[in-house]
Parts: sequence; C-alpha cells; structure tokens
Amino acid sequence: MTQDTMTSSEAEQTDDQQTRPTPGADGLVDRADDSESETAADRTLIEARDLDVYYGDDQALQGIDMEIPEKQVTALIGPSGCGKSTFLRSINRMNDLIDIARVDGDLYFRGKNVYDDDVDPVALRRKIGMVFQSPNPFPKSIYDNVAYGLKVQGKDDDVDEKVHTALERAALLDEVEDQLDSSGLDLSGGQQQRLCIARAIAPDPEVILMDEPASALDPVATSKIEDLIEDLAQEYTVVIVTHNMQQAARISDKTAVFLTGGELVEFDDTNKIFENPESDRVEDYITGKFG
Ligand SMILES: Nc1ncnc2c1ncn2[C@@H]1O[C@H](COP(=O)(O)OP(=O)(O)OP(=O)(O)O)[C@@H](O)[C@H]1O
Ligand SMILES: [Mg+2]
Repeated sequence: MTQDTMTSSEAEQTDDQQTRPTPGADGLVDRADDSESETAADRTLIEARDLDVYYGDDQALQGIDMEIPEKQVTALIGPSGCGKSTFLRSINRMNDLIDIARVDGDLYFRGKNVYDDDVDPVALRRKIGMVFQSPNPFPKSIYDNVAYGLKVQGKDDDVDEKVHTALERAALLDEVEDQLDSSGLDLSGGQQQRLCIARAIAPDPEVILMDEPASALDPVATSKIEDLIEDLAQEYTVVIVTHNMQQAARISDKTAVFLTGGELVEFDDTNKIFENPESDRVEDYITGKFG
C-alpha cells in the first residue's frame, strides 16, 4: 500500500512504528553505540505522554507530559502529596507493587512503552535502578550489599572488580576499602546512602531514580551526595526528587515542578525555572509563598 492510499490513522500507525525502535527479548530497547552526532543531552531517554496514575478512585497524577534527557540530572520538586514519588515509581513500574495503583497513558524508555505487555518489569528495573529516602542497606557485609544485584542476575564474572568499581563510582571506596567484610549497617548514615548508591549502580543500569536521597543526612553528608550525583550524570541519567530547592538549583539540569492535584505545572531548564518561570504558581512556590 502506498502512502496516498492509506487512511490517516494507518499512516500515523506506520509513522509510529518507524520511529519506535525494535525491542529485544525482555521487551526493552538496548543502548545504541554513541556514534550519532547529537550529544546525549539532546537525546530523550524517558518520555511520559498523558500519564495518569490512580490509587483506587483517587487520581495522584494528571496527564503528565515530560521528556527526560539522557545523562543529565532532572529534579522533581513540589509540595508534599503532589505526586513526585508516584511519578518516579511509574518510570520503573514500582507502582506495580502497590495493589490499588493503576496507570493510564504512556511511559517510554528509549522509545519503548514500558507498560506494553511484552516488557519484563524485572529487566526494566535492572536498567532503571532506585535509591530511597532512608538508607536501607541489607544486614550483610559491605561487599555482599554491592554484589547483591549482580548475584541475583547470575552475573558471576568479575564480581570483585565490579564491586570495587561501583564503590569507587559511589565515592565510598577510599573509606571502606579495608573493611569490605564488615556489616553495611555499621557505616554512618551518609556512608550507608553511598553504599545504597553503589548497590544500585553495580548491575550497570542506565538510569538512577532517587527519592529524596539526602533528606535524612547532615549537611556534610548531603554535600557529598550532591557532588556524587553530578559525577554520576556523566555516566547515567539521574532523576531526583528533592524538597530542597537550593539542592535542585545546584545539581540539576532540568527541573519539573509538580503542584497540588498531581499536575506538572512547568518543566524546563533549571536556570529558567529558578530565574524566570513562566507560571505565577511556580514563582510563588519557589519563592516560598506557599508549599
Ligand atoms: N501507596 C499508596 N496508596 C494510596 N495512596 C497513595 C499511595 N502512595 C501515594 N498515595 C497518594 O498519592 C498522592 C501523591 O503521593 P506521593 O507520595 O506521590 O507524593 P509526593 O509528592 O512524593 O509527597 P512527599 O513530598 O510527601 O513525599 C497523595 O495524595 C498520596 O496520599
Ligand atoms: Mg515522596
């Protein structure tokens, strides 16, 4: 059939199939080589289209459209209950684990809708790792914490090297090199959080989702995590929820402002959001008039 004999919806479908890459056995699209001329920052890695999330009858997110660039830090800010954690969890389908949660709309990772039937959510979470608000190391040695994800995946080759690399990338190796057999729970809070980051990056994901990763930490530990996040963005795409506006302004490239009701009110370059936002509601929120 030629283009001019197609109906417009057939043409749209074909266009869509042409622009969406072909997934592998786990339903996901692999990282391509970096030979393309555009830089990573120009590439959209994660794309939400008209995404709604409900808990039972309550709608927590309303029609979210967002394009998250590769190898950048994207911050999600907004008042408590506006749906930041819900959005983060919709990216790697952690909301699947909440019985009453339901997702409508599309969430693409490398052009593939992660809610399609052929996507394996476990494989997805391997590519999109997560770090939570309170450091939650397993009651195991430092080494076993970091090796955990590798072992679960049956990646038994070069475990020592991968554990060391992950600890180094998480800026923790120097502090724990001589005590890899001691319990992860004996570390300080800030070290525990870096251990959790090492655990998340050991299986070599592409994206790290962080839900208020520094909110339980003192200023020194917080500043180490902030430095680390900026370093991580050279290798990974980072999406971080924070209540700390200075933190969002300092470390992120893009900022998404959610407001009460689960609406994404503005999404733009971080400088633009903090210096000259389009929306008065965003201006009021970031200048502390409410929230
Ligand atoms: N497991 C759940 N079951 C039912 N409702 C939930 C659940 N998790 C979140 N909600 C509701 O969804 C809405 C958004 O919650 P969410 O946790 O995503 O907000 P948030 O922006 O992360 O808030 P905070 O800044 O306090 O962490 C809230 O109304 C919340 O009560
Ligand atoms: Mg939250």
